[in-house]
Amino acid sequence: MADKLGRNDPCWCKSGRKYKQCHQAFDDKIQAIARMGHTVPHRDLIKNPEQIAKIKESCKINIAVLDYIEEHIHEGMSTAEIDKIVYDITTDMGGIPAPLNYKGYPYSVCTSVNEQVCHGFPSEDVILKPGDILNVDCSTILNGYFSDSSRMFCIGEISPEKKKLVQVAKECVELGLKEVKPWGFLGDMGQAVHDHAFANGYTIVREIGGHGVGLDFHEEPWVGYNTRRGEEMLMVPGMIFTIEPMVNMGKVDIYIDDKNGWEVYTEDGLPSAQWEIMVLVTEEGSEVLCW
Ligand code: MF3
Ligand code: CO
Repeated sequence: MADKLGRNDPCWCKSGRKYKQCHQAFDDKIQAIARMGHTVPHRDLIKNPEQIAKIKESCKINIAVLDYIEEHIHEGMSTAEIDKIVYDITTDMGGIPAPLNYKGYPYSVCTSVNEQVCHGFPSEDVILKPGDILNVDCSTILNGYFSDSSRMFCIGEISPEKKKLVQVAKECVELGLKEVKPWGFLGDMGQAVHDHAFANGYTIVREIGGHGVGLDFHEEPWVGYNTRRGEEMLMVPGMIFTIEPMVNMGKVDIYIDDKNGWEVYTEDGLPSAQWEIMVLVTEEGSEVLCW
């Protein structure tokens, strides 16, 4: 709900301008949409230009780390080596790997191989071999600002089935991104992602989704993909969230390894693929901050 400001009070966005000359019309528009029954973002989710600039600095590290991994990942390497690379590059650039000690998560990165859906533990014992596909999910804290993105990597020759899965998962994110624009709804994005996966005979994990990000690791809203056009939260300029559908080749069902409470696998043992981008809603449409 709008915390009421007088027309001549300084705007909540810290621009230094009067509310009536800054975000008042914007807030009124949001409240009108809320009265129509839609979920709307609280102003805490709307980043100002200074915050966006600082978040982008954090994103630079995340992108540099994933670019380095893209160049150096190879058959015979362990996922523990990827963890070390992530830690070293992130800290050399002045950042902190956000996963490390997050709710007790014990590593700097998640490396999820084949039928691992997400939150895979890097390990000396997981040696990358030809035919593997894996997601490397990086997140950085820089000066208190968060970034989060992930990419898929293919080791050597992979099967045509896995190649298609990785490709379609990427297309899902691209098609979802096209739907990100101010005054649309998150469900516009979710349905585009969902429809493309299903048209290819795949399923999208229901329990785990994207999230707001920037001032914290995981902010509102929760971003699902089994959602419908015109539903879910209103998108407005200044919101930042991730698009990160986990696309399963087979059934939608997943389970969490009860030995560690983190690693997520497909129930049917078939592969899963995920790409994650971090998107800013702008006045014109969207800007991808991290990939
Ligand atoms: N990057 C993942 C996400 O989008 C988070 C994994 S970090 C972990 O939420 F600590 F939760 F594993
Ligand atoms: Co994320």
